[in-house]
Amino acid sequence: MTPQLKKTNLLKEAAFINGKFVGASTNQRFAVKDPATGEVIGEVPEMDVTDCKKAIDVASNTLKTWKKTTAKARSDMLERWYDLMIENKESLAQILTAENGKNLTESRGEIEYGASFIKWFAEEARRAYGDVIPSPVADKRLIVIQQPVGVVGIVTPWNFPNAMITRKLGAALAAGCTAVVKPAHETPFSALALCELANQAGIPEGVINMVTTQKHTKDIGKEMAESEKVHKLSFTGSTGVGKLLMEQGASTIKKISLELGGNAPFIVFNDADVDAAVEGAIGSKFRNTGQTCVCSNRLLIQSGIYDEFAKKLVERVKKFKVGHGFEEGVTHGPLISEAAVEKVKRHVDDAVSKGASIAQGGKHIKGNFYEPTVLLDMNTSMAITTEETFGPVAALYKFSNEDEAIELANDTPFGLAGYFYSRDVGRIWRVAEAMEVGMVGVNCGSVSFESAPFGGIKQSGLGREGSKYGLEEYLEKKFICMSI
Ligand SMILES: *[C@@H]1O[C@H](CO)[C@@H](O)[C@H](O)[C@H]1NC(C)=O
Ligand SMILES: *[C@@H]1O[C@H](CO)[C@@H](O)[C@H](O)[C@H]1NC(C)=O
Repeated sequence: MTPQLKKTNLLKEAAFINGKFVGASTNQRFAVKDPATGEVIGEVPEMDVTDCKKAIDVASNTLKTWKKTTAKARSDMLERWYDLMIENKESLAQILTAENGKNLTESRGEIEYGASFIKWFAEEARRAYGDVIPSPVADKRLIVIQQPVGVVGIVTPWNFPNAMITRKLGAALAAGCTAVVKPAHETPFSALALCELANQAGIPEGVINMVTTQKHTKDIGKEMAESEKVHKLSFTGSTGVGKLLMEQGASTIKKISLELGGNAPFIVFNDADVDAAVEGAIGSKFRNTGQTCVCSNRLLIQSGIYDEFAKKLVERVKKFKVGHGFEEGVTHGPLISEAAVEKVKRHVDDAVSKGASIAQGGKHIKGNFYEPTVLLDMNTSMAITTEETFGPVAALYKFSNEDEAIELANDTPFGLAGYFYSRDVGRIWRVAEAMEVGMVGVNCGSVSFESAPFGGIKQSGLGREGSKYGLEEYLEKKFICMSI
């Protein structure tokens, strides 16, 4: 543990209900480990459905008063929360690196990115306008107002332990909703630190509640999906779990937002700026050691520049330094778990067994560390084509023309992000329109901004987060018809 981590008062080894840091009703706890070393960072409560029900009751009671606060009051509180996140950026980043493994630069970047959603929704809180509709009849007036959905259940992943929470909570609180959050068991400390700062920001007790669990994740997800007191569920994670929650949520016609898996294509055409494409691919493929849902999974490279692109990509990947995220100069940290390493191994082995060649890396180092890898001669028979790797493996497929590239890119049930590089303006429009995804990066390898809509189509999810659209997910429209 770093000296800074030891002295921060933001490392909370307790869950958060009704403004208090609390234990589980059973008093059980589980350990949270540094994925780079396996060392225990601390313990948090092992909560079960009983605790979750308590948290839901608190959120439900608090809703009565919170929904009546003014947009300005909520906006001011969110602004203070944002300021505190920025003031405590270093401690938050240290906690994040300790439990997630990404290097400190990336962690600091995530804290700024995460905080930006709070600021954005502090501003958007004041713009939840309604409508006055010109009436078709003389004696009536037609009005639409927007009101908070109610109590929101939020389930978040470990890969962005800060930002995936703020992107949801910022919008929920801005709209006037209260929330019960279940952070990933791998990374609860980043989440709990936000609760401490929310207290300091003056966000009333009971507005945000957080239940931690490892063993009872499924039951708590089910409780959130099925409870009549929870009006909306927002989940970021795997498509499999998303489908299950949607099914469970059907029993109460739950409003639901899902940010699920992707299988992002990254296309480079012959007319691209190859150096820029290589830089874009480095960011898009290897950020967070390949563990983001918008990471490119299939690099589709046109035959004319395939060899040049591959050579330059390998040169860049060779410069990576793998190690503990706290170590100076380390560009890539560990994977989150042994299971994650196993999946990467399986994908590489499968590709190689079907004829792919390893241009760089391709080996398990030790523990949760895997070499950043470049695979050539990929084809559609290989597992990487259809499954998200979620690891540091750049898989290069060769294509010959635009139609083939689009067909390959869209040949997946997923549709989160897609990227392509070209300098032909006609092609840029054609391909951007043809890609079956929610977000397209044209000559850029990153598509995430607090002000832009994040989300997928097909089996990558429902709804959008961030941006002006993100607030709508937490608002209901009420039509008022008035006789005069
Ligand atoms: C973290 O990695 C990035 C590249 O992914 C690199 O630019 C940065 O310098 C690294 N940070 C540290 C502290 O070494
Ligand atoms: C993939 O490549 C292998 C090895 O070259 C070949 O045997 C196989 O037929 C290819 N499959 C497809 C679908 O192209």
